[in-house]
Amino acid sequence: MTKFEPTIFSSHAAIDGDELQIAGLSASGLAAKFGTPLFVVDEADFKERALAWKSALNNAFGAQAGTVYYAGKAFLCKELARWISECGIGLDVCTGGELAVAAAVDFPLEAVEVHGNNKSEVEIRTAIELGAGTIVLDSFFEIERVARIASDLGRIQRVYIRVTPGVEAHTHEFISTAHEDVKFGFSIANGSAWSAIEKVRAASSLDLVGLHSHIGSQIFASEGFAAAATKLITLLAEVRDAYGAELPELDLGGGYGIAYVAGETTLDPATVMMELAAVVKAACASAKIRVPRISIEPGRAIVGPTTTTLYTVGTTKDVHLDGGAIRRYVAVDGGMSDNIRPALYGAQYSAIIANRVSDAPLVNSRIVGKHCESGDILIPEIQLASDLIPGDLLAIPATGAYGRSMASNYNHTPRPAVVAVINGQARVIVRRETEADLLALDL
Ligand code: LLP
Repeated sequence: MTKFEPTIFSSHAAIDGDELQIAGLSASGLAAKFGTPLFVVDEADFKERALAWKSALNNAFGAQAGTVYYAGKAFLCKELARWISECGIGLDVCTGGELAVAAAVDFPLEAVEVHGNNKSEVEIRTAIELGAGTIVLDSFFEIERVARIASDLGRIQRVYIRVTPGVEAHTHEFISTAHEDVKFGFSIANGSAWSAIEKVRAASSLDLVGLHSHIGSQIFASEGFAAAATKLITLLAEVRDAYGAELPELDLGGGYGIAYVAGETTLDPATVMMELAAVVKAACASAKIRVPRISIEPGRAIVGPTTTTLYTVGTTKDVHLDGGAIRRYVAVDGGMSDNIRPALYGAQYSAIIANRVSDAPLVNSRIVGKHCESGDILIPEIQLASDLIPGDLLAIPATGAYGRSMASNYNHTPRPAVVAVINGQARVIVRRETEADLLALDL
């Protein structure tokens, strides 16, 4: 795509005055003021999406709506945690580091859910001491650890059990999490989910309030969510039959897909939640249990579309392919250190020239980064205007999820800044790393 595709950019982005504007600020102005590569977050878009998921859950499930936990792994910093708190939704953290961000801004800790397949003793203790609302238990060793630490601290900790429902999510293997052969959770099929339930129920310092499953990421087919929900509800009914008590909550995880390239459509929260509610209500009716309070954990679907990465073009090079075609390598000032997703998952992105509009003929191009390896490709194939020159800006939309959060210092590259834009105002919410920052770690 070389055209501006409004459905892929954040909701307050537009081409205006021959240039990309986000929340009324021009790409060239942002680049001049803050440098590139630059993550530009559309703040109003973020809050609109967070609130849209919250009202979709509330409308679909009514009194049985639980909590929308924003999955912090998609991207988290202090300012974002403040926005989440302002929107009145919860936060899913999966490390002590993510929990520390929440604690640093006085995020309401009862609205924090603590994940992780190998939480350390320190992480568990800190979470319980801080008063984290819910810990999601992932292994038998962890059940013992959490039970012991909660008991040492004289607490009764609310917990979920993470269950592997044996659902194949149709997405990349590395981001698919609910089939049998994965490191996460307790399998329903081999009986370990049931053993975990028995073990947790027997621990007096643990309060088992529900089950959790997350089937994977960047999923568009609602059948996957529905199949997982149905399996979990069957298990809830078995718990009721065995113990005479119903677990009141179910957390169905995140994974809702978003658009990265033309032809894809970001899932509509209201539609997905209505579909899910229909399946959950029908499954509960047939299992003869009350509808549990349903929580969800969207990460990408809230932050992904809100952010655009701006890069400056540094060089171009034409390669003549077999058959005479040309491939133009367009090298930008970032790459796999600020967006590992294309290299890791074959993820697709789109881009436009951000600082001007060109009607020059298009040329088959490949957008690459500045890192010392050939796999450092952001977009393998894209038609870009043939008059693109060094100094032009490229904008890659939908980089809010798993871009900055998976960024690395590969090749001693300082990680980019994150700037929030709203109503014609921009402010840095994560400052750009410097070489001094990198050297400060070396003793
Ligand atoms: N809940 C749990 C338990 C998760 O493990 C995840 C993601 C989420 C929620 C949020 O999923 P989302 O709504 O963002 O799809 N780095 C990969 C994605 C890994 C996702 C890991 N878990 C990527 O860049 O696609």
